[in-house]
Amino acid sequence: MKNVYRPIDAEILEVIDETPTIKTFVVEPKEDIGFATGQFMEVTVPGLGEAPFTPSSSPNVKEKIDFTIMSVGKVTEELHRMTKGQMVGVRGPMGKGYPLDAWKGKEILIVGGGVGAAPLRSLFLALVERLDDFKKILYCYGARTPGDIVYKEQILDKWQKINPKKIEIRTTVDEGDSTWKGNVGVVTTVVKDLGIDINNSVGVVCGPPIMMKFGTFALVEQGYPDSAIHLSMEKNMSCGIGKCGHCMLGEYMVCQDGPVMTYDKVKDKPAIWD
Ligand SMILES: Cc1cc2nc3c(=O)[nH]c(=O)nc-3n(C[C@H](O)[C@H](O)[C@H](O)COP(=O)(O)OP(=O)(O)OC[C@H]3O[C@@H](n4cnc5c(N)ncnc54)[C@H](O)[C@@H]3O)c2cc1C
Ligand code: FES
Repeated sequence: MKNVYRPIDAEILEVIDETPTIKTFVVEPKEDIGFATGQFMEVTVPGLGEAPFTPSSSPNVKEKIDFTIMSVGKVTEELHRMTKGQMVGVRGPMGKGYPLDAWKGKEILIVGGGVGAAPLRSLFLALVERLDDFKKILYCYGARTPGDIVYKEQILDKWQKINPKKIEIRTTVDEGDSTWKGNVGVVTTVVKDLGIDINNSVGVVCGPPIMMKFGTFALVEQGYPDSAIHLSMEKNMSCGIGKCGHCMLGEYMVCQDGPVMTYDKVKDKPAIWD
């Protein structure tokens, strides 16, 4: 039987600087560890501790996994000091991801900000790899400044070119600079005039708490039913497998019932945007 507490050794193959505070770690697990897009894993820094992260790579790439990680504290600061060739542990996958099969034939609106780009890149790549199943992808992403845009080249240049008829990318920054020619304003300023049939659409929101809150409200304002809005809930997690209770949200354990949960399930729970 699989020991869910045992981290699998994984070698850091590459470290990519995304922004001054965010790096992508490409790791090679030494055993098979598949995942569905939106599921999360616990990444261990040996001798220090573990923290939950959502893979940012496609779930269809099996031999290596990308984690895009913002440095905020004990584990993440140490991860940011690690380099190619060093080993981490990876435990998982855990929880429920995005229900892609249920979205067949639909138009997908993705709204993200900051390091929320991590699970959203995994989702975007998974959608693109079966693009015939979906009618349209509209990806709206906001960052604080142009220097804070995660996956800058992909978002600003590459992704829309994959299929300009079915994919639209909208990017915005809170504060522009002399190089920035795009929209200036928070991400909700580009969540309008969607050109989407809301009745045949699902929304996805992921980002910092304040962005999640107003991004969700923007979708509600556009007419999305609460049950069509998919949120990535970031509760304080420990065991990741429904045993410790750290991640309780009303009757739910976010590590098992989430982290992807629809807004109708969580909207009346306390402190969902904290
Ligand atoms: C399901 C899930 C998926 C996640 N996926 C990702 C991901 O893909 N990429 C990623 O970078 N992070 C992700 N996170 C957040 C990540 O787990 C935390 O940033 C991490 O646990 C912090 O650990 P630490 O030891 O570095 O910080 P700690 O030492 O535990 O915390 C230090 C300080 O940072 C604050 N802090 C903790 N988390 C955050 C945060 N997210 N933002 C701002 N301040 C914070 C704390 O309040 C504390 O004050 C995810 C969280 C969950 C629950
Ligand atoms: S993290 Fe332990 S029960 Fe969810």
